[in-house]
Amino acid sequence: MINLGVLISGRGSNLQAIIDAAEGGETHSHVVVVISNDPGAYGLERAKKHGIAAVVIDNRTFPDKNTYELEIVKVLRQHKVDLVCLAGYMRIVGKVLLSHFAGKMINIHPALLPSFPGLHGQKQALDYGVKLTGVTVHFVDEGCDTGPIILQAAVPVKDDDSEESLSARVLEQEHKLYPQAIRLFAEGKLKIEGRKVKIL
Ligand code: GRF
Repeated sequence: MINLGVLISGRGSNLQAIIDAAEGGETHSHVVVVISNDPGAYGLERAKKHGIAAVVIDNRTFPDKNTYELEIVKVLRQHKVDLVCLAGYMRIVGKVLLSHFAGKMINIHPALLPSFPGLHGQKQALDYGVKLTGVTVHFVDEGCDTGPIILQAAVPVKDDDSEESLSARVLEQEHKLYPQAIRLFAEGKLKIEGRKVKIL
């Protein structure tokens, strides 16, 4: 069993999927702390409902990014977190957080990376006219959605898709893929070799 710390900024539907999968014994892990930079994030309520520590670390109340991230590291360490999962965390991760959790931090992105990184991956895919988009779970590095890829799932784009309808189908896949990636990490089956992640 490993300890998960989940970083969020919003509604936390991926957080919920991670909690549910962990409680169902699917991921060999449990969520020990949820941290949000936004005090209004609904994900905090989800954590509390499951008796999980819900901590607000509001980036706006810190003088700079390093001090802010040091506080996050402190809380993650207090809870003995083995793996940090970014789930709708809307800040770029800086060097402090990265250096403390190198190879131990993963993110989910609503597109097939390296296509459509950054914000609104689903809308970018729709506007571009791709026929297939999807979901990527990857290790976090210093770039924006650039780290080594762990798992991907494809989602077909339909002719009549709106951003909402496509996002909803992508989200369904997100909720399946994130727990699978966490399980692989928890089982020690992920090996990073340069840009590639080997699944043992
Ligand atoms: C998801 O689409 C995720 O891929 C992206 O941000 C969104 C977060 O949604 N990184 P939620 O807060 O997990 O519902």
